[in-house]
Amino acid sequence: MAGHGEPRPMSCAAAGPLRGVASIPGDKSVSHRALILGALSVGETRIEGLLEGGDVLDTGRAMRAFGATVDRTGPGAWVVHGVGVGGFQEPEDVIDCGNSGTGVRLIMGAVATSDLTAIFTGDASLRSRPMGRVTEPLALFGAETRGRRGGRLPLALIGARDPMPVRYATPMPSAQVKSAVLLAGLNAPGETVVIEREPTRDHTERMLAGFGAEIATEITDEGRVITLRGQPDLRPQSIAVPRDPSSAAFPVVAALLVEGSDVLVPGIGLNATRAGVYDTLVEMGADIAFENRREEGGEPVADLRVRFGPLRGVEVPPERAASMIDEYPVLAALAATAEGPTVMRGVKELRVKECDRLDAMARGLEACGVTVEEGEDFLIVQGRGPGSVAGGAIVESRLDHRIAMSFLCLGLAAKAPIKVDDSSPIATSFPDFVGLMRGLGAEIHG
Ligand code: S3P
Repeated sequence: MAGHGEPRPMSCAAAGPLRGVASIPGDKSVSHRALILGALSVGETRIEGLLEGGDVLDTGRAMRAFGATVDRTGPGAWVVHGVGVGGFQEPEDVIDCGNSGTGVRLIMGAVATSDLTAIFTGDASLRSRPMGRVTEPLALFGAETRGRRGGRLPLALIGARDPMPVRYATPMPSAQVKSAVLLAGLNAPGETVVIEREPTRDHTERMLAGFGAEIATEITDEGRVITLRGQPDLRPQSIAVPRDPSSAAFPVVAALLVEGSDVLVPGIGLNATRAGVYDTLVEMGADIAFENRREEGGEPVADLRVRFGPLRGVEVPPERAASMIDEYPVLAALAATAEGPTVMRGVKELRVKECDRLDAMARGLEACGVTVEEGEDFLIVQGRGPGSVAGGAIVESRLDHRIAMSFLCLGLAAKAPIKVDDSSPIATSFPDFVGLMRGLGAEIHG
């Protein structure tokens, strides 16, 4: 769990070319869902390639507290013995989801239609994030919640004893909200329907279908209409978790930042609802080859070969935002070394992530000598080409793994080293980030 220990400063300096193979850990979104759906099916679910980062381990602990058996049998290999839909027991203690918005929101959904009371909390970052976006739809099922002001954690949830199915249009593009409603709908009779105007990552829908739920998605004028039939008997599965495209973006961007680099990043999940950053990088002129395209564990996958080359600034289409929402920080770092402005609009969701990511990137980039323009819903980074970033700054990571990793990557291309005040949040999503980057030739020191 991030934010519970001493801050761990880390700095990164310009290095020679990055070379080698980057072995990326399992997808965080898929890992959370595999543990939760495993816990909601009767029998043994086997998971290979689970991300063993703090966020996912917290979700595993939570599933145990609700009555599932969750065991590690080897590196990335986990076995879950689930209790079935409607089988959760009341936890004896507070559920601490650490740094993870995905963990707490999906779990609140999964337990909201069970007759139990649970109290949720998290670290200082998670305790500052809005929960009303899930507690409001969960109330429609009959669940009650009481949190701090603004619905913030710690929060007590009293699950619905006689849940009603729900029809809900998500007011913002959020896979967490969509997933919370679908998971709650599992233990409600009849059909639960979620409507989303803009598509968001669809791992929950895919995995529910894989576990045998009756779920269908229709594209209509209203957007994507997802219908789930409640109270299914979920069948345990064997799940191979693809490697995380969001984590892969860091070594990919690092290779694009450092002259002469040539890095292979194998087996990356390229689900269209997740892979927007790669389209954007290609539009910037990045030399990325998508080799050996194939399907693994029900998700499209490819090996990425990335070579350094000149980049130009681009305007990122706002409708692409949901498919690359976690990659804007590292894109903003890269944009500083492209030629010309990179314009990112329609990104206000970044203000309610692990920290306010628009503010964190804007202040951090300014401290490194980069010119930025920031508005409520946009960020513009003025790129001045390779070798233009002064660096020499201490940047706040604000309990946010992606802010910490983005600035450590930028340090590779800065004139003077960039230091992040606390690198410990990186362990939530990419525990071996520093080891992997050093293996490619990066100069990162604690
Ligand atoms: C996630 C959804 C996104 C994303 C987060 C993971 C998920 O959040 O930022 O890192 O696994 O469902 P929102 O639903 O808030 O957009």
